[in-house]
Amino acid sequence: MKLTLHVWRQKSRDARGAMERYEAPDVSEHMSFLEMLDVVNEDLINRGADPIAFEHDCREGICGSCGFMIDGVANGGMKNTSVCQLHMRHFADEDEIWIEPWRAAAFPVIKDLVVDRSAFDRVIASGGYVSVSTGSAPDGNAIPVRKESAELAMDAAACIGCGACVASCPNAAAALFTGAKIAHLGRLPQGQPERLERARVMVLQANAEGLGNCTNIGECEATCPKGIKLEVIGRMNRDFLAASWTLRPAGNTPQEAA
Ligand code: SF4
Ligand code: FES
Repeated sequence: MKLTLHVWRQKSRDARGAMERYEAPDVSEHMSFLEMLDVVNEDLINRGADPIAFEHDCREGICGSCGFMIDGVANGGMKNTSVCQLHMRHFADEDEIWIEPWRAAAFPVIKDLVVDRSAFDRVIASGGYVSVSTGSAPDGNAIPVRKESAELAMDAAACIGCGACVASCPNAAAALFTGAKIAHLGRLPQGQPERLERARVMVLQANAEGLGNCTNIGECEATCPKGIKLEVIGRMNRDFLAASWTLRPAGNTPQEAA
């Protein structure tokens, strides 16, 4: 198939970017979207031009590094699909495709389609862990975990930190990401001692990173490649609210003040 691509090119964080047009005259429908870009880049390199920078690692939908906007939709709009798992058979011959990096102030462009998502790392570092002395590896069955809890924790742990939720949200909110990271520990018995404090510090860190607030639009869930559900945001909000009362100094709650 023959495609026309319009790709955001930006040399560096501070450089001015623009859309540039490329022809891809010989694309196989069996290629993944990233393989199609590889072919375009080989041609650019052969002609001495600067290849299009995009991030990738596993190409199996598990590392979260490859996302960008395709025709204005995060990861191209196929349900539960990262860009590396999107195949060219979902496009038509002679299509024109617009490709841009994630758009969010908290994710500044590094080059072309590559953005700096270290804000996510700092949100996780603020509280996304269990700080108990674990010693040597315990027996897997030493702490009983309800099957439903284990499955819901596993569903939340499926988040790959890709950032599609932030890029899709009109508020550039990271509520789905932060909620998933809070839920995957907060669903388990091992995550209970720090559960409220974890929610408090991770939400505050997301705010400090310039990530927005959730207004229940749902674009994040619609474009999340791992099917993370909005339910994690409700849990995060409940834990954050509980933390804001439970962790306050005595005398600050309405009941204590009365
Ligand atoms: S919640 Fe979904 S869209 Fe957001 S970072 Fe995690 S996997 Fe990506
Ligand atoms: S390259 Fe790892 S999720 Fe796409």
